[in-house]
Amino acid sequence: MERKRWYKDMVFYQIWPRSFKDGDGDGMGDLWGVLEKLDYIKSLGCDGIWFSPIYPSPGADCGYDIADYMDIAPEFGGMEAFRKVLDGVHARGMKLLMDLVVNHTSDEHEWFQKSRQRIDPYTDYYIWRPAKPNGKLPNNWDSNFEGKAWTWDEVRGEYYLHLFAVKQPDLNMDNPLVREEVKKILRFWLDMGVDGFREDVITYISKAEGLPNDRIFPIYKGMRKYNHGPHIHEYLAEFKRDVLDHYDCFTLAEAPLVWPKRALKYIDEKDGQIDMMIQFQCQTADCLFTDYLPTKFHLRKMKKAFSDWQYKLDGRAWNMLYLENHDHPRIISRYGSEQYREESGKSLAVSYLFQQGTPFLYQGQEIGMINWRPESADMYEDVQTRYNYEHSNLKKSPEVRLRKMWRSSRDSARTPVQWDDSENAGFTTGKPWFHVNENYREINVAAQERDPDSLLNFYRSAIALRKSLDVVRHGSYREHFHSSKKLYVYSRSTDRQKLLVICSFTDRETKMKVPSGFDLANAKLILQNCKDADSSTLKPYETRVYLWE
Ligand code: GLC
Repeated sequence: MERKRWYKDMVFYQIWPRSFKDGDGDGMGDLWGVLEKLDYIKSLGCDGIWFSPIYPSPGADCGYDIADYMDIAPEFGGMEAFRKVLDGVHARGMKLLMDLVVNHTSDEHEWFQKSRQRIDPYTDYYIWRPAKPNGKLPNNWDSNFEGKAWTWDEVRGEYYLHLFAVKQPDLNMDNPLVREEVKKILRFWLDMGVDGFREDVITYISKAEGLPNDRIFPIYKGMRKYNHGPHIHEYLAEFKRDVLDHYDCFTLAEAPLVWPKRALKYIDEKDGQIDMMIQFQCQTADCLFTDYLPTKFHLRKMKKAFSDWQYKLDGRAWNMLYLENHDHPRIISRYGSEQYREESGKSLAVSYLFQQGTPFLYQGQEIGMINWRPESADMYEDVQTRYNYEHSNLKKSPEVRLRKMWRSSRDSARTPVQWDDSENAGFTTGKPWFHVNENYREINVAAQERDPDSLLNFYRSAIALRKSLDVVRHGSYREHFHSSKKLYVYSRSTDRQKLLVICSFTDRETKMKVPSGFDLANAKLILQNCKDADSSTLKPYETRVYLWE
C-alpha cells in the first residue's frame, strides 16, 4: 500500500513542556497550558506538535529519563490533560508526535530496579558487566554527559552502561524481550491516537558486539562502537514491520554524527525503516561537532550543510528542516545577530523555510528569543551543562568558563516562553521552576501580536506562503554563489514556478547579487524584511523571496 506521507505538507512546532506554559499555577509548564495555546500554535500555520517527553520521570535529564512509558507525569496534568490535548489537536486538524526514548530509561524505572536485583525477566534488560580483574572499567567509552559510560551498582555488584547521565542506564536492545517492550509502548500510544514518534538517539540502540574499546576520538569516545551499530537497521525494520506499518503514522529519528549517505540507509523511501532524520550538521556552523567546542560562525559551513542534504536526499528521501530545538542555544545568538535581532531572525527563518522538507519550529523561535545568560553557573539546571562547567577549562577564570556556558549550554534555550510583559513573562502565576530571561518586557508574544511587522507575524506569512506554493514542496533546489561569505542564495524550480531566496548574513550593507537566468523585472517580490527593497544593495540581514510563475 502506498504510504500517505502527509507529514510532507506540514509544519511542526516543538514543545519543551516544562517551559512552554503553566496552566495550573505550580510554576512548571504543563498540558493545561498547552491546551490554552493550541489556537496560538495553529495560528502560526503549524499543523503538528512534537512533545519532548511528558512521561513520569525523576527529571535527571528533564524527562529524557523515563520511569514509566505508559503514563503522563502528574506535574504535566496526567492522562486527563493529555487526552484533552490530543482531542484538541485532532479537532483542529493537527497531528501529535510523542518522544520515544528507548536507548535508555531512568534508573528509577521498575525494569532497572528489578534488573539490578536479577529478577527475571528483567535480569538482562540492561547492559551489565563485571569489573575487569585488574579493576578497570569494562571498556573505555565515555558517556555523552557525565564522564565515563560505566557506573558501579552496589545492589547487583556489576557495572551498567549509560551513554548519557548516570541516572540513564542503557537498555539492552539485543534482548528480544526489550524489543517487545518497545513495540508495546509504540502500540499503546498509537492505539490512543498519537500520530507518530520522534525517536531519541535511536541510532545508538545497537552496540558493537563484545563492547570493544574505541580508538581515541576527539569527543565521545565509544561513539564509533555504538552509533549506527550492527543490528540497527534490523531492529528498526522489526519495529516498522510489527507495529508502525499497521498504523497511519510517521517516525522521525534523531541521529548524531550522520551524513546524507548514511542517512539514506534509514530514510530512503524505497526501503528505509523510518521517515525523516534529525541531523546535526546544520547545527555545527559555529562549533566542531558539539556546541561545547565553539568556533566563529561560518556561513559557508551552514550553507554546505543545508545544500548537501537538499541535493543528496532529492527524489529519494525527505528532509526534516530545523534551526532550533531544546538541545542547542538560540539560533539568533549563534548564526544571526542580537543587535539585528528582528532582521536576522527573519533572514534565518527564510533561510530554511523554503527548502524542501518538513520544517520544525521550537517554542520561542517564532518571537526571536535569544540566549539566557545567568549570573552564576549554579543557576544552570541541565546535567550536561553542569558537568561541562565543572570539568572543562579548569585553568580559566570562572568568568571565562561561565561565558563559555552562555554560548554552549542547552539551558540558554530552555527558559520559559515569553508570552507578555507581565510578571514572569505571563508563563506562570506561581513561582517559575526556572529563570525567566530578563528581556521579556521587550521580547514577548503579546507585543509581537500587536505589531504587523514583528518576527512572529513574519513567521506566519512565511509559513502561509510556503504552504501555498507548489514549488516549495516539489521544486528542485539549487544553491547560488556558494563561496559568498555574506549571502545565502538558493532557488527552487518546477516547470511552472520558480522561487529565488536571498538571505544576507552580514551586519553591513552588501551588494545585491542575482544569479544569471533570474530576471527580477518579471518576478514578484513575495516576502521581504526591509521596506523599500533596493535593486543594488541589501541592508544588514536583509532577506527577499522572489517568485516567477
Ligand atoms: C537526545 C535529546 C536530549 C537528551 C538525550 C538523552 O539528544 O534530544 O535532550 O538529553 O537525547 O536522552
